[in-house]
Amino acid sequence: MLAGKHILVGITGGIAAYKVATLVRLLVKEGAEVKVVMTETAKRFITPLTMATLSKNPIAVDFFNPENGEWNSHVKLGLWADAYIIAPATANSIGKMAAGIADNLLLTTYLSAKCPVFVAPAMDLDMYKHLAVSTNIETLKSYGDTIIDAEAGELASGLEGKGRMAEPETIVDYLNSYFDASFSGLHALVTAGPTYERIDPVRFISNFSSGKMGYAIAETLAQQGADVMLVSGPTNLLPLHPNIRRVNVTSANEMYEECMRLFPSCNIAVMCAAVADFTPERQEDSKIKQKTDLTIALTKTKDIAAELGRIKRNDQILAGFALETDNELANAHEKLKAKNLDFIVLNSLNDTGSGFGVDTNKITIIDSDGTEILFETKPKKDVAKDITTYIQQKYGQISNFEL
Ligand code: CTP
Repeated sequence: MLAGKHILVGITGGIAAYKVATLVRLLVKEGAEVKVVMTETAKRFITPLTMATLSKNPIAVDFFNPENGEWNSHVKLGLWADAYIIAPATANSIGKMAAGIADNLLLTTYLSAKCPVFVAPAMDLDMYKHLAVSTNIETLKSYGDTIIDAEAGELASGLEGKGRMAEPETIVDYLNSYFDASFSGLHALVTAGPTYERIDPVRFISNFSSGKMGYAIAETLAQQGADVMLVSGPTNLLPLHPNIRRVNVTSANEMYEECMRLFPSCNIAVMCAAVADFTPERQEDSKIKQKTDLTIALTKTKDIAAELGRIKRNDQILAGFALETDNELANAHEKLKAKNLDFIVLNSLNDTGSGFGVDTNKITIIDSDGTEILFETKPKKDVAKDITTYIQQKYGQISNFEL
């Protein structure tokens, strides 16, 4: 995926700078053209000579070359790059990036870059945990940057904990998956989050869904080139990829209407939302006042996945989720058939690290031919990658789809 790509590597002053030698070597091995920009402090950890030799390009540190006055244009560097990876990113540089401070070439290039930016933090565990740093990291995410989370292990300080820069191989994986355009030209529909079923002006019925799994799937499909319509119930999440268009809905009925409208022009649909199965038969216009008891009559909502399954064409892929507490496999197989899905992703609430609100998930993919594939517990982002890889494998001729 990286052959011929222009990768700009920004090195800030942390001990993990030594690992960037391996990163650059791996990138060059993959066929990427690599340029390196370093901060003054980074030069103390790894020499420009090492980095220039490995990247096969001169290193940029200052705004100009003091020998001959030649200008190092941050704008040109930013435009040249197909991706900018800042590794290691120290707490200091992350803070400056979040605040828009531009006191070195690495930072001015960050502000000028038009390409996606990947940030691999590295610092001591207490610094990484500090609210100031995590807030700055969240700010970078809100700018659209991808954070390659630090890993846990032994740190330069001698302490054990989270703060080690991700391994060079992990960083290369991130870049590879960014440049994977397997879904280019395809349209995808993803539902995510809970729905709110209104009882009266102040109350509703809902569930614990955070929307994280659906958003991760939308991001992965978008990163791999799909145009994604994300029909989302109320969540605190923000889709970041420019290929994602979010359609906000509140109730199951609104989600149904939007999905029915969008599905005919989609090639892939992944139904990840935790749609409320019941909605109040009547919605009160005024707040229900205190009384000794209250019975609310509920009526069934429309089953969106089943409705899409009914109108699905042969050139469309429809996937659903099953969240189960008992008889997991049997129930999932039944839902797969009843909703005419191409495959279903089962997650059990009985598995630790699975289900609502957590950042990990443990899934089994069940295909319409009955095959079951079991995956380990992983971060939801990696689960999303497994699901999109499955879509690719199952439908090898995805490029033959009618658009
Ligand atoms: N789903 C849907 N519309 C509904 C209910 C569910 O589209 N009204 C979709 C979900 O997004 C998921 C799949 O159907 O992809 C299964 O959802 P789940 O809540 O596990 O099962 P239900 O079909 O609601 O059945 P039950 O609640 O009885 O387990």
